[in-house]
Amino acid sequence: LNLILLGPPGAGKGTQGERLTASEPLEYIVTGEILRAAVREASELGLQAKGYMDEGQLVPDELVIGLILERVRAEQATDGFLLDGFPRNIAQGEALDGALSQLGRDLNGVLLIEVPDEEIVRRLSGRRVSSSGRIYHVEFDPPKVAGKDDVDGTDLIQRDDDKPDTIRKRLAVYHEQTAPLIGYYEERGLLHRFDGTAPADEVEAHVRKTISTLR
Ligand code: AP5
Ligand code: ZN
Repeated sequence: LNLILLGPPGAGKGTQGERLTASEPLEYIVTGEILRAAVREASELGLQAKGYMDEGQLVPDELVIGLILERVRAEQATDGFLLDGFPRNIAQGEALDGALSQLGRDLNGVLLIEVPDEEIVRRLSGRRVSSSGRIYHVEFDPPKVAGKDDVDGTDLIQRDDDKPDTIRKRLAVYHEQTAPLIGYYEERGLLHRFDGTAPADEVEAHVRKTISTLR
């Protein structure tokens, strides 16, 4: 089962991806986390990516496509992959199609989590994350101890790109560059829409129900 999570910044892709892959044997490939790890390690890729990420722009395709397709090709999970944050424009979608057809594998579904722009700013300004990427919200999904990760007790932080100005830029980039993928997958009957304004448990239940029909 090969799936894509699509949706604007803050829609809940990471929240749902974490929940699904905790029980489904899918390889979870999170482009944003891979890039943030590269920035932390100050690798060549990280140094090149950082400026774009801080600006809320997409990292250039030359840096991202090869990196993610390598992960897709190496994927060894029993049940396939769940891509979060890739593809993010039509060129990336076409590159993924090319790689999958070379591998003789199908894309089984695209899960689109929809949340209106007004709600996004509230979501992202209250988000806190652990160093390993676990996701919380000060109001909607608070940790057990304020400011500390539930699992390892380390301090929670705010992502560098969760500032109001950068959030607005990320939204604009989503509408211009990523949203065209909705039609791209809808035409092929692969798109499944979810109301991302519902509580996370409800979104999860809907997504799981859809996934069970795709097997
Ligand atoms: P990336 O990390 O992918 O960021 P994003 O797409 O902007 O999405 P987010 O991670 O911000 O949101 P999410 O949908 O995962 O929401 P979450 O579950 O955390 O990308 C970051 C940057 O990397 C990009 O700007 C770009 O520069 C670069 N990049 C990444 N991929 C790239 C690519 N393919 N090509 C080029 N560049 C790329 O939830 C958000 C908050 O809401 C949390 O606090 C959560 O607790 C809360 N929440 C979640 N669900 C609910 C709910 N149902 N109700 C209430 N609160 C909720
Ligand atoms: Zn995310």
